[in-house]
Amino acid sequence: MTSRWNKARIAAALVVALPGPGWAQSSKVARSDAPATIALTGSDEPGASLRIDGVLVTGPARTPVAGASIYVYQTDAGGVYNPANPRDSDHPRIHGYLRTDRLGRYAFTTIRPGSYPNTTNPGHIHYQIVAPGYRDRIFEIVFEGDSLIPAQWLRDAAGDQSGVAVVRLERASGGGWRGVHDVVLRPERP
Ligand SMILES: [Fe+2]
Repeated sequence: MTSRWNKARIAAALVVALPGPGWAQSSKVARSDAPATIALTGSDEPGASLRIDGVLVTGPARTPVAGASIYVYQTDAGGVYNPANPRDSDHPRIHGYLRTDRLGRYAFTTIRPGSYPNTTNPGHIHYQIVAPGYRDRIFEIVFEGDSLIPAQWLRDAAGDQSGVAVVRLERASGGGWRGVHDVVLRPERP
């Protein structure tokens, strides 16, 4: 059976492999001057505020990867990607593009995504990462303690190249939540 992770990876690979008019939009690759820290939502977005920080690293020394493209997207607090089409994850209302800074760091503020309506799918945030010389990474983060996370996902999350990662959230000092998610990149040619 083709897993949902593989399907997502194949779909994204097809998009990235077809440059042409509109490429910069459809490829889900950040502009070269994209910031390392962004807000995915306005301050009036319904839901619990959330900040994710992390570093992209590679190799046993965990060397930072600077200038990597990160595209993140998610549903709103009600589990909806787009008001016009709730499941249209190709055109999510809440999304953003980042580039890691010279120390490999990235950060974004947003709100905690909800479960898809009428499902038991855990709230999650999708990542697509492209960095020259490294294998693309496509995965999603879910949040520790969410009872909707299937046991298989928890097992899958053990590897650093998995399609899913479990992030521990803490209460932020000003309210809301914060978490850290570092990402391991592997060279295209080991
Ligand atoms: Fe999703």
